[in-house]
Amino acid sequence: MKLTQVILLFLCFYLSFCKVKDQKQKNQEEMEKVKVTSTSGTPQEDLVDKKCLREKYTHLSCQKVFCQPWQRCIEGTCICKLPYQCPKGGAPVCSTNGKSYPTYCQQKSLECLHPETKFLSNGTCTANGQFEVTLKYGKKYSEGIVEVKFAGQNKTMFICNDSWSITEANVACLDLEFQQGANDTQGSFHFPEDLHINSTECLHVHCQGFESHLAECTFTKRKAKNYQALASVTCYTQNAVSPTNNSFQCVNGKHIPQSKACNGDDDCGDQSDELCCKGCHDKAFHCKSGVCIPKQHVCNGEVDCITGEDEVHCEGFSHVAQEETEILTANMDAERRRIKSLFPKLSCGVKKSTPTRRKRVVGGKPAGPGDFPWQVAIREDGKINCGGIYIGGCWILTAAHCVRASKVHRYQIWISLIDWITYNAGIVVRMVNKIIVHEKYNGTTYQNDIALIEMKKHASKNNCMLPTTVPACVPWSPYLFQPNEKCIISGWGRDRDNAKVYSLHWGEVRLIGNCSNFYPGRFFEKEMECAGTDDGSIDACKGDSGGPLVCMDANNVTYVWGVVSWGENCGRPEFPGVYTKVAHYFDWISYHVGRSLISQHNV
Ligand SMILES: *[C@@H]1O[C@H](CO)[C@@H](O)[C@H](O)[C@H]1NC(C)=O
Ligand SMILES: *[C@@H]1O[C@H](CO)[C@@H](O)[C@H](O)[C@H]1NC(C)=O
Ligand SMILES: *[C@@H]1O[C@H](CO)[C@@H](O)[C@H](O)[C@H]1NC(C)=O
Ligand SMILES: *[C@@H]1O[C@H](CO)[C@@H](O)[C@H](O)[C@H]1NC(C)=O
Ligand SMILES: *[C@@H]1O[C@H](CO)[C@@H](O)[C@H](O)[C@H]1NC(C)=O
Ligand SMILES: *[C@@H]1O[C@H](CO)[C@@H](O)[C@H](O)[C@H]1NC(C)=O
Ligand SMILES: *[C@@H]1O[C@H](CO)[C@@H](O)[C@H](O)[C@H]1NC(C)=O
Ligand SMILES: *[C@@H]1O[C@H](CO)[C@@H](O)[C@H](O)[C@H]1NC(C)=O
Ligand SMILES: *[C@@H]1O[C@H](CO)[C@@H](O)[C@H](O)[C@H]1NC(C)=O
Repeated sequence: MKLTQVILLFLCFYLSFCKVKDQKQKNQEEMEKVKVTSTSGTPQEDLVDKKCLREKYTHLSCQKVFCQPWQRCIEGTCICKLPYQCPKGGAPVCSTNGKSYPTYCQQKSLECLHPETKFLSNGTCTANGQFEVTLKYGKKYSEGIVEVKFAGQNKTMFICNDSWSITEANVACLDLEFQQGANDTQGSFHFPEDLHINSTECLHVHCQGFESHLAECTFTKRKAKNYQALASVTCYTQNAVSPTNNSFQCVNGKHIPQSKACNGDDDCGDQSDELCCKGCHDKAFHCKSGVCIPKQHVCNGEVDCITGEDEVHCEGFSHVAQEETEILTANMDAERRRIKSLFPKLSCGVKKSTPTRRKRVVGGKPAGPGDFPWQVAIREDGKINCGGIYIGGCWILTAAHCVRASKVHRYQIWISLIDWITYNAGIVVRMVNKIIVHEKYNGTTYQNDIALIEMKKHASKNNCMLPTTVPACVPWSPYLFQPNEKCIISGWGRDRDNAKVYSLHWGEVRLIGNCSNFYPGRFFEKEMECAGTDDGSIDACKGDSGGPLVCMDANNVTYVWGVVSWGENCGRPEFPGVYTKVAHYFDWISYHVGRSLISQHNV
């Protein structure tokens, strides 16, 4: 009997006699509490996830958002790239320090390191002076009508307020060195009596929110049909706003009205009001990862949700045709997108052939060739005791309790194996070169139950020669999949009656939110994932140790979300399986296998 099974039996025994009823009652009470607050609380407050707010996520949190192309993700934070780490290719741009840089990415990475060198214009620098923003006719220094002057032009221009939103207002205020951006998209002002502004001549401006200088946004001139109001702004000054019962505190310290959190707009200026949302206000789109994005970003050709669902099923989605416009400044947003497209694409999680259509039956169904091309078997002294997951290169992910680093010669990796009695064609066997067990693995508590196996390279080639294998993608954020989502486990594990199973089986399970309720004191939320079925039926027992719990994203790309660790069920819903939560170990894995092997984004 395996060690896991001994522990499991013990657990089943212990739990079923002392804790299960209490826990069920507790759950019910918990549910009732939720019901009460959702009817009495204001709907706006309900949208914010308070527990998530404690993590202080911002636009630099790569667990919630994608980094800019001039940044990369290190341990959950977008940090500045060095200019040489930018992709090659592109046109030169001019910076406010009077120097030209070979590409926009290089200038932005330098600006990221030295914020005083902002973007000035596309193309090499000419001796033309600066772009200027001023606030005019305001009652206070922090407010007024927004006036701009382009480099090389003497004429100043105003901006029409129909294109003016909090995004542009934040950039304008930031530009004017109000560190926390704008308080309002309008400001009070008074015109001098004798001033006549021909407001059919105002400009339109569009920013994305990442810009630090208004010159970086796209200015256009449109044929105005009639009178346009002019854009004005009130910038945020620290002492001017006192927090009230109804204010939301941004991570950058700014206070905004509670009603503006989770509305899709980056009112904070650091996006912290949009990253912990259980839902969004009407005009925003809710990403599964708990992020609200503006509706206009849906089906705009760029993925905004880390979970990808804002750009699927976009057939027949048409954007409003552009009016006839004269573009006054370069569209650096288009350039940013072009740079993004230059990054290498990782190939993982997509099966090579479309497998034959199979009836989707929940529970312990035999797998066919090619159904789980990332699944491997780990053979030790002639027996298959554990599964593993191919993640690219020569690397296999498995559970720490499956292997011992000192016994490298005892293991073999069997690839493309379906049945281990009647061997199928295409089986590949590889010897093991190196085993890396997580240094904080605890065999008693099963914490950090994760290990990497490096297979030996093919003698003549410098790789592992695995033609039929497809790596599963490695998740980089714990927000990619949520409780209740359906995922799949697979393995050669024993069945309900503890009889040996000789062919690869799979089953569908649901992710479970908080397994502390099922395994008090033994379940560690950040490091472990938990999954099962409503009725606790057999399929949750199917995965063998070290094998995969995989989930598919909105684009049908497969991720290894968990590694089978402990707590296989005893045929009852109170005993869901516990998995090592792979997303928590992304940095550990990438440290050992190399960042580029598993990074799809933020490289
Ligand atoms: C701007 O004004 C200066 C001096 O007032 C003048 O020399 C220059 O020619 C003007 N430039 C343009 C583009 O009108
Ligand atoms: C533009 O200004 C007008 C008049 O001040 C105001 O009623 C309107 O709400 C403003 N529009 C926007 C988009 O701010
Ligand atoms: C405002 O500018 C437009 C375009 O330049 C011009 O056609 C119009 O006559 C001007 N209106 C006034 C009142 O000056
Ligand atoms: C900021 O805006 C709010 C409402 O939008 C207003 O009540 C408050 O007075 C403004 N603060 C400043 C400093 O303008
Ligand atoms: C919040 O509102 C309640 C009721 O309106 C009031 O009693 C309390 O003093 C307020 N707290 C703050 C910090 O304003
Ligand atoms: C920037 O200017 C270069 C010419 O210097 C041009 O080729 C390129 O298309 C421009 N980029 C944008 C985004 O307008
Ligand atoms: C494993 O965890 C237990 C309980 O926290 C602790 O007592 C023990 O020392 C740990 N063992 C190792 C090897 O870290
Ligand atoms: C999970 O349950 C434990 C114990 O019941 C509790 O301390 C913890 O806050 C819960 N977490 C969530 C996200 O509900
Ligand atoms: C993913 O697969 C499902 C089921 O095969 C299909 O209905 C859906 O359209 C696919 N989604 C995408 C984005 O291809």
